[in-house]
This record gives sequence, C-alpha cells and structure tokens, in this order.
Amino acid sequence: MDPIISISHDLVLKVLRPCEAGVLFSLVQKNRAHLREWLPWVDSTRSPVDTRKFLEMSYGGFLHGAGFNFGIRHHGGLVGLVGFHGFDMANRITSLGYWLSEDACGKGIMREAVAGCVQYAFSDRGMNRVYVRCATNNFRSKRIPESLGFTHEGTQREAEWLYDHFVDLDVYSVLAAEWDGSIAT
Ligand SMILES: CC(C)(COP(=O)(O)OP(=O)(O)OC[C@H]1O[C@@H](n2cnc3c(N)ncnc32)[C@H](O)[C@@H]1OP(=O)(O)O)[C@@H](O)C(=O)NCCC(=O)NCCS
Repeated sequence: MDPIISISHDLVLKVLRPCEAGVLFSLVQKNRAHLREWLPWVDSTRSPVDTRKFLEMSYGGFLHGAGFNFGIRHHGGLVGLVGFHGFDMANRITSLGYWLSEDACGKGIMREAVAGCVQYAFSDRGMNRVYVRCATNNFRSKRIPESLGFTHEGTQREAEWLYDHFVDLDVYSVLAAEWDGSIAT
C-alpha cells in the first residue's frame, strides 16, 4: 500500500500517481511565474502529457525503490509537491526537492511537509543523511532546512542552470543521530 504521511487533520502527504497529471499540471499552469524563478523544469512542462510522463517516472521510482514524490494535500486539495530525488542505499543518503503553489505559501505548510519526509526517510527508509540544495538567493526555501536544524555545509558554485543564468546552491544536511522530530511542531 502507498505510504501516507498524516501531518495533521488538514495536511496530508500522499504518493503522487500518474492519474493526477491533470490536477498537477493545472497547478503548475496557475503558478508558472512563481515557480519559474527557482525551478528549471517549468518551461519544458507544456501540457498534461509532460506532467503525466513525470508522474509515471515518479510512481515507477516509488514502486522500484528509487526517487518519488508526495503530493501535498491541504484541506483535501493539492497545493504542491515534496519528493525524494533518489535513495543511495550503499551510503544511506537521500535528498529532497519541493514547491508550493503561491497561495499556499507563508502558512508553514512546507516546513511541516519537509519534516514529515525527513522523519519518513530516517524511520521508514533507513537513511542516515538527508540533504537539500537551495539557490543562495532563495531565502524562503533556505528558511526551511535552517528552521529544522539542518547544518549548512557550504555553497556549490554555479551548480544549477536556470534558463539563462547559473545559480550557486547552498547545501544543508541533517543526520539521523541529529534529527529531533519534535522540532517541526
Ligand atoms: C520554497 C517554498 C516552498 C517556501 O514556502 P513557504 O510558504 O515560505 O514555506 P513554509 O510553508 O514552510 O512557510 C514558512 C512561512 O510560513 C510562516 N508560518 C510558519 N508556520 C505558520 C503557521 N502555523 N501559520 C502561519 N504561518 C506560518 C513562517 O513564518 C514562514 O514565513 P517567514 O519565512 O516569512 O517567517 C515556496 O516559496 C516555493 O514553492 N517557492 C518556489 C519553488 C522553490 O523555490 N522551491 C524550492 C527550490 S530549492
């Protein structure tokens, strides 16, 4: 059975399936300008078919022990996504990516969603290290690992191409032995 992370009565993470391509594409369509500032895949997501391909890959990853994405459901509606890029089983390392629709921002939703995923990575997937990489100027995104007690490891120079320029990426990590699940509440 697909895992469900119930963060609260109103906030639930559910593994995204290909049949949700329509609703996910509509969310991207409504939030293009907001997402494009920091995410490199927005322009190449042109139709629900592109989103369906993404979700087929993501759900296939879930079924086969590779990376996958949770849809973030707030009051029952899809408001964004948080996902694992992959699971390095030899070294027990995983990394997270995330985004929210603009109208769901500023409510603490992503902080709780990321905390739920970190807990899941340590307790259900046996990971030892979870990291996120945020563009150096993406201060809203950096607040999430910072406020959850991640350690800033350093800055990767010109590590991501965003349409017409490179950005530096700040790397934040937390180890299983350091994780205090209660920090999220
Ligand atoms: C990055 C992103 C997910 C951050 O979203 P966010 O809404 O700021 O993050 P959270 O859901 O954790 O909310 C945090 C904010 O909500 C506020 N908040 C926290 N708990 C709250 C609560 N219970 N009630 C109301 N507000 C709350 C916090 O004060 C914080 O605001 P502040 O940073 O201005 O102090 C969002 O900006 C986004 O999707 N950006 C575009 C894509 C992107 O950059 N992705 C990341 C790439 S690395």
